[in-house]
Amino acid sequence: MNKPNNHTSWSKYWNRPEKLFADSTQVEGFQKNIFVQLKAVTDIKKGDTILDYGCGKALSTPMSVSEGILVLLYDKSEYFSDCIKSNYSDMDGVKVLDDTSLDEIKDNSLDYILLSSVLQYLNRTEVNKVLHYSARTLKQGGKLILADIIPKEHSTSLNDITALINRSFKDRNLLDSISSLFRLSKYRKFRKNMPLNTYDYSDLLNLVEPFGFGLIKTNINIGMNESRNTYLAEKLS
Ligand SMILES: C[S@@+](CC[C@H](N)C(=O)[O-])C[C@H]1O[C@@H](n2cnc3c(N)ncnc32)[C@H](O)[C@@H]1O
Repeated sequence: MNKPNNHTSWSKYWNRPEKLFADSTQVEGFQKNIFVQLKAVTDIKKGDTILDYGCGKALSTPMSVSEGILVLLYDKSEYFSDCIKSNYSDMDGVKVLDDTSLDEIKDNSLDYILLSSVLQYLNRTEVNKVLHYSARTLKQGGKLILADIIPKEHSTSLNDITALINRSFKDRNLLDSISSLFRLSKYRKFRKNMPLNTYDYSDLLNLVEPFGFGLIKTNINIGMNESRNTYLAEKLS
C-alpha cells in the first residue's frame, strides 16, 4: 500500500491553498458543475441528502440546491470552512457543519457522502475515521462516492498538469491555463515532496469491505483528469 503522506504539511497547505494551486476560472468552472457529473454516476434526486466532505469552496452547491437536494458541507481546513460559512450559512437547503455538528448527524440518515478529490490527502487514520463515519450515517443502500481517485499507474503530478493543459485546449482556455502554470509549477515541486495516496480497485475494496460496503467503479470520473477514477461504495447492511 501507500506510504503515509505528510499529513501535517497537507493540512498547512489546505489552510492557504491559493498561494500555490491554480484558482483558475477553468478549475472553478469545473467545480461549479460537479453536480452534473454526480448525476451521471448516481441516481441522486430531489429530497435526497448529501454530505460533501472536504467540500473546498463547494461551488456546485447552488446547482444541487436548485434541484431539491439538501446539502451538508464540511471541510476541515479553516480557510475553506470560513469560505463556506460566509457563502452558504444563510442559503436555504444548505447546512454548513463544524466538527461538532458533523458528529451530531444521526445514524442512517444520509443518502450520499461525497469525497471529491479528498481521499488522496488523508492518512490511514483519517481514512478509517471517514469510513467509520460513513458506515454510521449513511442509510442502508446509501452511497459513499470516492471521486477523483489517483490510480497507481498515474501517480505523478506531471500527469495532472498535462491533463489540465489538454483540457485547456479542449475548452479553448489556454490563456487562463498559462497564467496558472506558474502556480502549477510550484504545486508540482510541493507534490514531489509530499506524494499523494494512490488506490486501485483492490486497495479500495480492502479498505471499504470491513466497514460493510460493496464497491463499483463508475464509467466516468468526477474530476478534471479523465485518467483518475470514481468509485461508489454502497452500504450493504
Ligand atoms: C482538492 S480539494 C477538493 C475540494 C472539493 N471537494 C472539490 O472537489 O473541488 C481537497 C479538500 O479536502 C479538504 N480536506 C483535506 N483533509 C481533510 C480532512 N481530513 N477532513 C476534511 N476535509 C479535508 C481540504 O481542506 C480541501 O478542501
